[in-house]
Amino acid sequence: MVAAPYQHPLAFVAAPESHRDAAGRNLETPPGAVALRLRKVDKRFGDNRVLRGIDLDLEAGQFLAIVGKSGCGKSTLLRLLTGLDQPTEGRVEFLDAQGRPAAGNARIVFQEPRLLPWFDVADNVAVGLGPGTLKAEARSRAQEALADVQLAEKAREWPSRLSGGQRQRVALARALVSRPGLLALDEPLGALDALTRITMQTLLGRVRRELGATAVLVTHDVAEAVHLADRVIVLEDGRIKLDLAVPQTHPRRHGDPDLARIEGSILASILGGD
Ligand SMILES: Nc1ncnc2c1ncn2[C@@H]1O[C@H](COP(=O)(O)OP(=O)(O)O)[C@@H](O)[C@H]1O
Ligand SMILES: [Mg+2]
Repeated sequence: MVAAPYQHPLAFVAAPESHRDAAGRNLETPPGAVALRLRKVDKRFGDNRVLRGIDLDLEAGQFLAIVGKSGCGKSTLLRLLTGLDQPTEGRVEFLDAQGRPAAGNARIVFQEPRLLPWFDVADNVAVGLGPGTLKAEARSRAQEALADVQLAEKAREWPSRLSGGQRQRVALARALVSRPGLLALDEPLGALDALTRITMQTLLGRVRRELGATAVLVTHDVAEAVHLADRVIVLEDGRIKLDLAVPQTHPRRHGDPDLARIEGSILASILGGD
């Protein structure tokens, strides 16, 4: 078994580079969701060319899901989108509602909640604000974010006392507390049991709609992608193999036959070769 690469516990906050444009100028964080523009994005690790000339436009407020076989580059693409890593070639840009370059203020949620065991729940959420916020304000904003994920009553609890699903809701609140322009989710429900997962999908969909953030979800679960996203892309051999809109309105019903058809064509693309 290959060990996961070491991740600093605060690695859910986008790198400061994402707050600067190509000329190094500091960019204003927009109040709302950002749009994304990728042009000819390549990512190589030594000889391994993981992403090959990816072009992608994502509208502000859109919910994109990225699916594909294990190792096809989903997490790599997500890390580039959030500014946690840089492309080998090509450009990743954030744009505000007027189409001007903007800071993405991206936040990412991983499969493991990565909570700090010596902080209570509210302080774990407040970490998402970054340094420089006064303690009282940080606690009160953390409390609001906890209410968004229906965990207001757990603010003073220790992470070790929570269930797996509750811990992931804390991680989600930590990502949302700064009102990010881009919410990135890397298999966020992958470690949860099936029923908790369904409850969490509903919660995630509702919270995201209420906040209106642009969102990108990486998942190996095609049903989950189709249930939550406005658009699904399939990655294969470093390229976007399929790019499908999911036009159904929200909230969506599990077992909807139209969604099942879309799910079927995505699965066929992943498994079937063409
Ligand atoms: N930091 C890294 N150093 C070297 N190779 C990497 C690194 N991150 C990812 N890779 C490689 O890039 C490929 C895609 O990985 P990843 O994006 O994690 O796939 P996925 O999320 O789709 O399962 C794999 O071959 C993986 O070994
Ligand atoms: Mg991955």
